Amino acid sequence: MKALRSQAWFGGTDTIAFDRRAWMKNGGLPDDVFDGRPIIGICNTFSELTPCNRHLRELAEHVKAGVLEAGGLPAEFPVFSCSETNLRPGAMLFRNLAAMDVEEAIRGNPIDGVVLLTGCDKTTPSLLMGAASCDLPTIVVSGGPALNGKYNGTDVGSGTDVRKFMDDVRAGVMSLEQLKQAENGMSRSAGHCMTMGTASTMASMAEALGVALPTNAAWPAVDARRARLARLSGRRIVAMVREDQRLSQVLTAEAFANAIRVNGAIGGSTNAVVHLLAIAGRIGVPLGLDDWDRLGREVPTIVDLKPSGRYLMEDFCYAGGLPVVMKEIADLLHLGLRTVSGRTVGEIVAEAEPVDGKVIRPRSRPLTANGGIAVLRGNLAPSGAVIKPSAANPELMRHRGRAVVFRSIDDYHARIDDEALPIDATSVMVLQNCGPRGYPGFPEVGNMPLPKKLLMAGVRDLVRISDARMSGTAFGTVVLHVAPEAAVGGPLALVRDGDFIELDVEARRLHLDVPEDELARRRGAWRPPEPTMTGGYQSLYVAHVQQADRGADLDFLVGCRGAAVPHDSH
Ligand code: FES
Repeated sequence: MKALRSQAWFGGTDTIAFDRRAWMKNGGLPDDVFDGRPIIGICNTFSELTPCNRHLRELAEHVKAGVLEAGGLPAEFPVFSCSETNLRPGAMLFRNLAAMDVEEAIRGNPIDGVVLLTGCDKTTPSLLMGAASCDLPTIVVSGGPALNGKYNGTDVGSGTDVRKFMDDVRAGVMSLEQLKQAENGMSRSAGHCMTMGTASTMASMAEALGVALPTNAAWPAVDARRARLARLSGRRIVAMVREDQRLSQVLTAEAFANAIRVNGAIGGSTNAVVHLLAIAGRIGVPLGLDDWDRLGREVPTIVDLKPSGRYLMEDFCYAGGLPVVMKEIADLLHLGLRTVSGRTVGEIVAEAEPVDGKVIRPRSRPLTANGGIAVLRGNLAPSGAVIKPSAANPELMRHRGRAVVFRSIDDYHARIDDEALPIDATSVMVLQNCGPRGYPGFPEVGNMPLPKKLLMAGVRDLVRISDARMSGTAFGTVVLHVAPEAAVGGPLALVRDGDFIELDVEARRLHLDVPEDELARRRGAWRPPEPTMTGGYQSLYVAHVQQADRGADLDFLVGCRGAAVPHDSH
């Protein structure tokens, strides 16, 4: 076995090694734990302000048990926890800050391998990004989805059904008393969103990338098998340190290709595009938007989960979870890749059950024939934009309509229910200045709720276009991540009310039908929006954030800097 990294902290007889061992012994550690035992960091995003991750302290105990059983020493440490529900102005603004915290915490501490405890949307990518810049042996343990929500005798899913309830309230067909009952039945247990939203998608991506054990995505947070998986992960990370199986040996170009295809098969979140681009940038794998379109194009969505379909993650668990999905599309995957389990993708899928035909469908009867994320280009999005066909309205996938433009999210809120707003069922809603720099922080506001007057007339979807993201639990014909964004002078900033816009998803085209000389005149008159912050982290973010097609990472954080620390603290 290669010399342990932690021995640079605890080996030897000098003053600093004495001090470090002495301080660690205040936890009751005997002498022999410093004699060459792998020290495993357990990187925990527990926070009472991140309700999806509230149970991760308990889960960490199961990881520790596994580490101890395998002869390692566990050491749990906290990192910045991005709460999707509570952090303002949005968790995405802080994903890169959290990743910076994770990277420095891993590199600066005496650990030989690391277990990443994740759950809520941004906690998985932020931890993987930070870990990828260090490249130690690394394994992800997701917190798991919550049990199915319940309302009025039916299963309901976080995010997806909330939007439907809100539309029903705005349309006058649901009372506030009924809405309160739905609220009380929505989050019935520990765990993250139980739809195939971003949290479930990113847990699936970790599994598909091979950086989490099989079935990581599906076991509910409160299922004993989740605790068992955590314990087995604790055992396995010790073995990975002994084998020197580092993250870069798992996160290969082929692993990203597998993950992109799996994302198509599960009808995964558009947010996976941004997060995987950022993780790839950290580990040094070339990955671009066109890879998403190319690899996902022929993949059918076979998982019938909300928001694209009908069921929820608890049902996905009973149907066998991700290994079953991967088995059904095995011919599209790189089967020889060795995962953190020590086994190959092929060995894992060989043991999976066949599809149940209901929650996970056969390839011959998909939910959507072309399930991958479609990447659109055109004069409105020269660097690309994305749409999730499986969550969109087939009748709007080819559409020409007049733009109704909102200059900002505040402008949208101020005017959306104005009776005089010139909007009808053929209109295209356009939202500007909600990209990485513009908001700032690239928020999930792209799936703008429709105006009340259209909802009351029975309209439930319009083409919507923005430089923002949308929640993985959302649905609709929503074009997102338009790059370059409006706030840096991208063509989206030049759209005016009444302009014709053409969307053709099959042809991957997004076109603003305005003569070039008129666009040039508007470009000449364009001025960047005033900055909303003049200091602190947000200023750093705005100065350095990359566009959506590059994963919206900070430019100086891209790349793998390794785990070496040349100087000590004395
Ligand atoms: Fe945390 Fe959805 S709010 S996963």
